[in-house]
Amino acid sequence: MKLLFIGDIVGQPGRRAVKELLPKLRKQHALDFVIANGENSAGGSGITPKTAVEIFSAGVDVITSGDHLWDQKEVMELLANEKRFLRPLNYPPETPGHGSGVFEVQNPGSKIQGPLSVAVMNAQGRTFMPPLENPFLLALDEAKRLRERTKIIFVDFHAEATSEKIAFARFLDGQVSAVVGTHTHVQTADEQIFPGGTAYLSDAGFTGPHESVLGREIEPVIKRFLTGMPQRFEVAKDRVFLNGAVIEIDDASGKAVKIQRVSEAIP
Ligand SMILES: [Fe+2]
Ligand SMILES: [Fe+2]
Repeated sequence: MKLLFIGDIVGQPGRRAVKELLPKLRKQHALDFVIANGENSAGGSGITPKTAVEIFSAGVDVITSGDHLWDQKEVMELLANEKRFLRPLNYPPETPGHGSGVFEVQNPGSKIQGPLSVAVMNAQGRTFMPPLENPFLLALDEAKRLRERTKIIFVDFHAEATSEKIAFARFLDGQVSAVVGTHTHVQTADEQIFPGGTAYLSDAGFTGPHESVLGREIEPVIKRFLTGMPQRFEVAKDRVFLNGAVIEIDDASGKAVKIQRVSEAIP
Protein backbone atom coordinates (compact mmCIF):
# COMPACT_ATOMS: atom_id res chain seq x y z
CA MET A 1 0.00 0.00 0.00
CA LYS A 2 1.02 3.57 -0.51
CA LEU A 3 0.43 6.42 1.87
CA LEU A 4 1.10 10.12 1.72
CA PHE A 5 2.07 12.06 4.81
CA ILE A 6 1.60 15.83 4.59
CA GLY A 7 3.79 18.09 6.77
CA ASP A 8 2.29 20.78 9.05
CA ILE A 9 -0.57 22.53 7.24
CA VAL A 10 -0.18 26.26 7.91
CA GLY A 11 -3.30 28.44 7.76
CA GLN A 12 -5.60 29.03 4.82
CA PRO A 13 -2.83 28.79 2.19
CA GLY A 14 -1.85 25.39 3.57
CA ARG A 15 -5.42 24.13 3.51
CA ARG A 16 -5.79 25.41 -0.06
CA ALA A 17 -2.61 23.55 -1.09
CA VAL A 18 -4.05 20.28 0.22
CA LYS A 19 -7.35 20.89 -1.57
CA GLU A 20 -5.72 21.78 -4.88
CA LEU A 21 -2.81 19.35 -4.95
CA LEU A 22 -4.08 16.19 -3.27
CA PRO A 23 -6.24 14.94 -6.19
CA LYS A 24 -3.23 15.13 -8.53
CA LEU A 25 -0.89 13.47 -6.01
CA ARG A 26 -3.45 10.74 -5.33
CA LYS A 27 -3.56 9.89 -9.02
CA GLN A 28 0.17 10.26 -9.62
CA HIS A 29 1.20 7.99 -6.72
CA ALA A 30 -1.88 5.71 -6.59
CA LEU A 31 -2.36 6.62 -2.92
CA ASP A 32 -4.37 4.40 -0.59
CA PHE A 33 -4.23 6.53 2.53
CA VAL A 34 -3.40 10.13 3.47
CA ILE A 35 -2.24 11.48 6.83
CA ALA A 36 -1.59 15.15 7.57
CA ASN A 37 -0.26 17.13 10.49
CA GLY A 38 -2.82 19.86 11.19
CA GLU A 39 -1.38 21.61 14.26
CA ASN A 40 -1.04 24.95 12.42
CA SER A 41 -4.12 24.72 10.22
CA ALA A 42 -6.19 27.39 12.03
CA GLY A 43 -4.59 30.78 11.32
CA GLY A 44 -1.15 29.22 11.80
CA SER A 45 -1.81 28.17 15.41
CA GLY A 46 -3.81 25.14 16.42
CA ILE A 47 -6.77 23.46 14.82
CA THR A 48 -10.57 23.81 15.02
CA PRO A 49 -13.40 21.46 13.97
CA LYS A 50 -13.90 23.76 10.97
CA THR A 51 -10.34 23.50 9.66
CA ALA A 52 -10.34 19.77 10.42
CA VAL A 53 -13.50 19.27 8.34
CA GLU A 54 -11.88 21.21 5.51
CA ILE A 55 -8.80 18.96 5.64
CA PHE A 56 -10.83 15.74 5.85
CA SER A 57 -13.03 16.92 2.94
CA ALA A 58 -9.91 17.48 0.84
CA GLY A 59 -9.18 13.76 1.12
CA VAL A 60 -7.08 13.39 4.27
CA ASP A 61 -7.93 10.28 6.33
CA VAL A 62 -6.19 11.09 9.62
CA ILE A 63 -4.94 14.35 11.16
CA THR A 64 -2.04 14.44 13.64
CA SER A 65 -0.91 17.35 15.81
CA GLY A 66 1.84 18.59 18.12
CA ASP A 67 2.81 21.35 20.53
CA HIS A 68 0.29 23.83 19.02
CA LEU A 69 -2.51 21.42 19.97
CA TRP A 70 -4.08 23.73 22.59
CA ASP A 71 -3.89 27.06 20.71
CA GLN A 72 -7.61 27.05 19.77
CA LYS A 73 -10.08 26.18 22.52
CA GLU A 74 -12.41 24.47 19.99
CA VAL A 75 -9.84 21.66 19.80
CA MET A 76 -11.54 20.16 22.86
CA GLU A 77 -14.45 19.18 20.63
CA LEU A 78 -12.12 17.35 18.25
CA LEU A 79 -10.33 15.59 21.10
CA ALA A 80 -13.66 14.43 22.53
CA ASN A 81 -15.47 13.39 19.35
CA GLU A 82 -13.17 12.90 16.37
CA LYS A 83 -11.44 9.51 16.21
CA ARG A 84 -9.55 10.58 13.08
CA PHE A 85 -7.79 13.35 15.03
CA LEU A 86 -4.72 12.40 17.06
CA ARG A 87 -2.69 14.24 19.69
CA PRO A 88 0.80 13.26 20.90
CA LEU A 89 0.45 10.02 22.87
CA ASN A 90 2.90 11.07 25.58
CA TYR A 91 0.54 13.39 27.45
CA PRO A 92 -0.48 12.11 30.89
CA PRO A 93 -3.17 9.38 30.81
CA GLU A 94 -6.07 11.68 31.84
CA THR A 95 -5.57 14.01 28.85
CA PRO A 96 -8.52 13.91 26.44
CA GLY A 97 -8.03 12.45 22.98
CA HIS A 98 -5.98 9.60 21.54
CA GLY A 99 -2.32 9.22 20.59
CA SER A 100 -2.98 6.47 18.07
CA GLY A 101 -5.72 4.82 16.08
CA VAL A 102 -6.35 1.98 13.67
CA PHE A 103 -8.18 2.90 10.48
CA GLU A 104 -9.65 0.96 7.58
CA VAL A 105 -8.29 1.82 4.16
CA GLN A 106 -11.34 3.27 2.41
CA ASN A 107 -9.91 4.05 -0.96
CA PRO A 108 -10.14 1.17 -3.44
CA GLY A 109 -8.35 1.28 -6.79
CA SER A 110 -5.10 -0.20 -5.55
CA LYS A 111 -4.11 -3.87 -5.77
CA ILE A 112 -5.21 -4.42 -2.20
CA GLN A 113 -7.91 -7.06 -1.84
CA GLY A 114 -10.05 -7.38 1.23
CA PRO A 115 -9.95 -5.15 4.29
CA LEU A 116 -6.68 -3.48 5.17
CA SER A 117 -5.97 -1.50 8.33
CA VAL A 118 -3.44 1.25 8.92
CA ALA A 119 -2.35 2.33 12.38
CA VAL A 120 -1.28 5.92 12.92
CA MET A 121 0.62 7.09 15.98
CA ASN A 122 1.51 10.65 17.03
CA ALA A 123 4.27 11.33 19.56
CA GLN A 124 6.15 14.44 20.66
CA GLY A 125 9.82 14.95 21.44
CA ARG A 126 11.16 16.48 24.65
CA THR A 127 14.38 18.17 23.57
CA PHE A 128 13.79 21.96 23.36
CA MET A 129 10.05 21.18 23.72
CA PRO A 130 7.50 21.44 26.54
CA PRO A 131 7.97 18.56 28.99
CA LEU A 132 5.84 15.48 28.36
CA GLU A 133 6.20 11.81 29.29
CA ASN A 134 9.12 9.96 27.68
CA PRO A 135 7.97 9.11 24.14
CA PHE A 136 10.46 6.26 23.58
CA LEU A 137 9.07 3.53 25.82
CA LEU A 138 5.46 4.69 25.40
CA ALA A 139 5.77 4.47 21.61
CA LEU A 140 7.38 1.03 21.78
CA ASP A 141 4.53 -0.29 23.96
CA GLU A 142 1.96 1.36 21.73
CA ALA A 143 3.57 -0.15 18.60
CA LYS A 144 3.41 -3.61 20.20
CA ARG A 145 -0.30 -3.12 20.95
CA LEU A 146 -1.02 -1.81 17.46
CA ARG A 147 0.87 -4.68 15.81
CA GLU A 148 -1.72 -7.09 17.17
CA ARG A 149 -4.20 -5.37 14.86
CA THR A 150 -2.06 -4.38 11.86
CA LYS A 151 1.56 -4.41 10.80
CA ILE A 152 1.16 -1.18 8.85
CA ILE A 153 2.04 1.51 11.39
CA PHE A 154 2.86 5.13 10.58
CA VAL A 155 4.36 7.43 13.22
CA ASP A 156 4.41 11.24 13.14
CA PHE A 157 7.15 12.25 15.58
CA HIS A 158 6.68 15.92 16.36
CA ALA A 159 10.07 17.04 17.62
CA GLU A 160 12.73 19.73 17.36
CA ALA A 161 16.10 17.96 17.61
CA THR A 162 17.29 15.76 14.75
CA SER A 163 19.22 13.60 17.22
CA GLU A 164 16.05 12.82 19.19
CA LYS A 165 14.15 12.13 15.96
CA ILE A 166 16.79 9.76 14.54
CA ALA A 167 17.29 7.98 17.87
CA PHE A 168 13.52 7.55 18.29
CA ALA A 169 13.15 6.11 14.78
CA ARG A 170 16.19 3.83 15.15
CA PHE A 171 14.73 2.61 18.44
CA LEU A 172 11.47 1.72 16.67
CA ASP A 173 13.17 0.22 13.59
CA GLY A 174 11.40 -3.01 12.68
CA GLN A 175 8.46 -2.26 14.98
CA VAL A 176 6.75 0.31 12.75
CA SER A 177 6.53 0.93 9.00
CA ALA A 178 7.61 4.56 9.05
CA VAL A 179 8.65 7.41 11.29
CA VAL A 180 8.41 10.88 9.77
CA GLY A 181 9.28 13.99 11.74
CA THR A 182 7.32 17.23 11.91
CA HIS A 183 7.53 20.55 13.81
CA THR A 184 10.62 22.24 12.33
CA HIS A 185 8.75 23.14 9.12
CA VAL A 186 11.97 22.56 7.16
CA GLN A 187 12.03 19.49 4.92
CA THR A 188 15.16 17.42 5.37
CA ALA A 189 16.88 15.37 2.65
CA ASP A 190 17.68 12.26 4.71
CA GLU A 191 14.89 9.93 3.60
CA GLN A 192 15.97 6.32 4.00
CA ILE A 193 14.84 2.85 5.04
CA PHE A 194 16.55 1.45 8.14
CA PRO A 195 17.77 -2.20 8.23
CA GLY A 196 14.65 -3.40 10.09
CA GLY A 197 12.35 -1.98 7.42
CA THR A 198 11.28 1.32 8.96
CA ALA A 199 11.16 4.26 6.55
CA TYR A 200 12.48 7.51 7.96
CA LEU A 201 12.60 11.24 7.23
CA SER A 202 13.72 13.73 9.89
CA ASP A 203 11.19 16.34 8.83
CA ALA A 204 8.43 16.41 6.25
CA GLY A 205 8.54 20.21 6.00
CA PHE A 206 5.38 22.33 6.04
CA THR A 207 2.45 22.87 3.73
CA GLY A 208 1.78 26.54 3.21
CA PRO A 209 3.45 29.79 2.10
CA HIS A 210 7.21 29.41 1.72
CA GLU A 211 7.90 33.12 1.01
CA SER A 212 7.98 33.38 4.81
CA VAL A 213 9.73 32.33 7.99
CA LEU A 214 8.28 28.85 8.60
CA GLY A 215 4.95 30.01 7.15
CA ARG A 216 4.71 33.41 8.89
CA GLU A 217 5.27 36.92 7.50
CA ILE A 218 9.00 37.63 7.39
CA GLU A 219 9.24 41.19 8.80
CA PRO A 220 7.66 40.62 12.25
CA VAL A 221 9.88 37.59 12.83
CA ILE A 222 13.01 39.59 11.97
CA LYS A 223 11.78 42.42 14.23
CA ARG A 224 11.30 39.97 17.09
CA PHE A 225 14.86 38.69 16.68
CA LEU A 226 16.17 42.27 16.47
CA THR A 227 14.26 43.73 19.43
CA GLY A 228 13.15 40.76 21.55
CA MET A 229 9.71 42.38 21.62
CA PRO A 230 6.56 40.31 21.01
CA GLN A 231 5.06 40.63 17.52
CA ARG A 232 1.98 39.42 15.72
CA PHE A 233 3.02 36.66 13.35
CA GLU A 234 0.46 36.62 10.53
CA VAL A 235 0.41 33.71 8.10
CA ALA A 236 2.30 34.64 4.92
CA LYS A 237 0.78 34.32 1.44
CA ASP A 238 3.16 33.51 -1.38
CA ARG A 239 4.98 30.51 -2.89
CA VAL A 240 2.60 27.91 -1.48
CA PHE A 241 3.95 24.34 -1.37
CA LEU A 242 2.62 21.02 -0.18
CA ASN A 243 5.47 19.24 1.60
CA GLY A 244 5.52 15.64 2.73
CA ALA A 245 6.51 12.13 1.81
CA VAL A 246 5.05 9.15 -0.02
CA ILE A 247 5.79 5.81 1.59
CA GLU A 248 5.25 2.44 -0.01
CA ILE A 249 4.69 -0.38 2.48
CA ASP A 250 4.56 -4.13 1.96
CA ASP A 251 1.04 -5.10 3.12
CA ALA A 252 2.02 -8.52 4.47
CA SER A 253 5.15 -7.62 6.46
CA GLY A 254 4.45 -3.95 7.24
CA LYS A 255 8.00 -3.14 6.14
CA ALA A 256 8.64 -0.05 4.05
CA VAL A 257 9.65 -0.61 0.45
CA LYS A 258 10.22 2.98 -0.62
CA ILE A 259 10.13 6.52 0.73
CA GLN A 260 10.03 9.56 -1.50
CA ARG A 261 9.92 13.22 -0.49
CA VAL A 262 7.18 15.41 -1.92
CA SER A 263 7.45 19.17 -2.43
CA GLU A 264 4.81 20.38 -4.81
CA ALA A 265 3.93 23.99 -5.58
CA ILE A 266 0.43 25.30 -6.28
CA PRO A 267 0.54 26.16 -9.98
FE1 LIG B 1 4.07 23.16 13.09
FE1 LIG C 1 5.06 22.12 16.34
